[in-house]
Amino acid sequence: MWWAGSRRVLRSTQRSGLIQLSGGSGVTDSGDGEVKRLRPHLFTTPIFYVNAAPHLGHVYSALQADVQHRYAALCGRETWLSTGTDEHGMKVQQAALAQGAAPHSLCSSVSMQFRSVFDALGISYTDFVRTSEPRHHLAVTRFWETLAQRGYIYKGNYQGWYSTSDEAFLSEGQMAESTDPSGNKIRVSVESGHQVHWMSEENYMFRLSSLQPALLRWLQEDPICPAPFLRVVRRWLEEEELPDLSISRQRERLSWGIPVPNDPSHTVYVWLDALVNYLTAAGYPDPSTGPWGPSTHLLGKDILRFHAVYWPAFLLAAGLPPPQKLLVHSHWTCEGVKMSKSLRNVVDPMECVRRYTRDGLRYFLLRHGAPERDSDFSHQTARSLLNAELADALGGLLNRCTAPAINPAQHWPRYHPTSVPPSAHAELQGLLGVAQELPAEVETRVRNFQVNKALEAVDGGVRRTNAFFHSQAPWKLRGGGAEQEAWADSVLYLTLEALRLFGTLLQPAVPGLAHAILMRLGVDPWERTLVGNWFVAATQGEGCKFQGRPLGQDRGLLFPRLDEQRGA
Ligand code: MSP
Repeated sequence: MWWAGSRRVLRSTQRSGLIQLSGGSGVTDSGDGEVKRLRPHLFTTPIFYVNAAPHLGHVYSALQADVQHRYAALCGRETWLSTGTDEHGMKVQQAALAQGAAPHSLCSSVSMQFRSVFDALGISYTDFVRTSEPRHHLAVTRFWETLAQRGYIYKGNYQGWYSTSDEAFLSEGQMAESTDPSGNKIRVSVESGHQVHWMSEENYMFRLSSLQPALLRWLQEDPICPAPFLRVVRRWLEEEELPDLSISRQRERLSWGIPVPNDPSHTVYVWLDALVNYLTAAGYPDPSTGPWGPSTHLLGKDILRFHAVYWPAFLLAAGLPPPQKLLVHSHWTCEGVKMSKSLRNVVDPMECVRRYTRDGLRYFLLRHGAPERDSDFSHQTARSLLNAELADALGGLLNRCTAPAINPAQHWPRYHPTSVPPSAHAELQGLLGVAQELPAEVETRVRNFQVNKALEAVDGGVRRTNAFFHSQAPWKLRGGGAEQEAWADSVLYLTLEALRLFGTLLQPAVPGLAHAILMRLGVDPWERTLVGNWFVAATQGEGCKFQGRPLGQDRGLLFPRLDEQRGA
């Protein structure tokens, strides 16, 4: 089918560290004999509200999507990555009013801030959708018309509780009683704590209730990762009866949004408007691009219901395939407390880039953040982790094995299979095991949305290589006769190969540092893919093109240690 996408399978073959890509070729036979190019897989970030400046939590959603996109490219797959800003709705209308600004100018300035932060972080987006753009307006209008034509929209009287802060309608089970600062009894959302208000108006309604069985069928494909979030959605769909959903607001209450087609007295509900951004990024409704291809959406747990219930329901109602995968992450807290603008404890990503560098911040967020549970940000933790893993372990290893004192010729030495002393056999096998298993382990971890575990595995490999290098101490072997010289060369070859493997695998997470490692090793840009790349080939009795190759220029420390001033 045209939307089925190119599900390619990455396999690690028997040979050490050889990764081979098998599966789709990027073209498909449509059944009528015509061969069509498959559309690239679309990765998306959520689009960000423009009522507040970007903070670290936002960056995390975008960063995780960026890693998936970059990793796919490393495996030879063409993919897209879209991001953008969510500019309509009551929140933005109220924020603009509070600042005495026109909504459009507030949107433009905050949208630009998000772009700058993503550029500073090296988010490799291929599209940036603003919901105030004409192309998005067209997509929402056409999508609404499709839903209407297919009988999923009717006019009804909506009565219920609404949280403006969350732009969400809540059921009884999603609310709790609370008191406001003046002691008045109020109702709040259990999940966000935000106050809800009673709303009663004539609205357009979406027949969400009729899609419950189809949604349950979709869930059988395990489209949500990690598993605890899949279980949450399964509970919602199995234990609750889905009510129909109000998908418009009276324009006199909410004017900042897209008017309902053929009824300008109503504005399209902001979440319907926002979710359609994924279609806009895919080229919808342009028929030449095909309406919608395979997609993976990255999102935080607070917006799970919108993506795991409303979005697939909208797509199914429009006759389009539901998302292939939802990758859901938990939240960042700051020194134990939930990050929030009102608590004034949000962490500024630009400030973090200045302290830690782009790749330092990327590494910390990806390595320390665990999608299945909340993670805590503190400067102390960031500094210790970056010093230990990037400055000492990885940077130290690169520095030592390329140092002119140990490698005066500044080239890759040869591997001599007969030079291995019996005392080194066990350690050598351990190191070769790393080279053999690491690519497949990283592949599995990235696919299962465990980039933190992928980085942990690479760090484990770095430590093992460091231990090998230290215990074999090639600097002590120099001048000790031909056999010892041969083993010293072999140790250096193995260490450089291990570093080439780490540098290759680290590209999606820390592209700048990986580039610096591979440059120092003299690895050309076209040799940095995972497709058909061999590591430690010389130990398998195969030729290795790196033997004898000059190292690249020494450009100093890979990642200078952070002191209290820089990293406190
Ligand atoms: N505009 C909606 C999304 C619409 S997508 C069709 C929205 N915007 S948001 O700006 O509030 O949030 C964007 C992303 O940032 C979400 O994935 C959210 O989970 C994430 N984060 C916001 N605060 C966060 C933390 N403290 N920690 C981690 N991520 C969190 O929701």
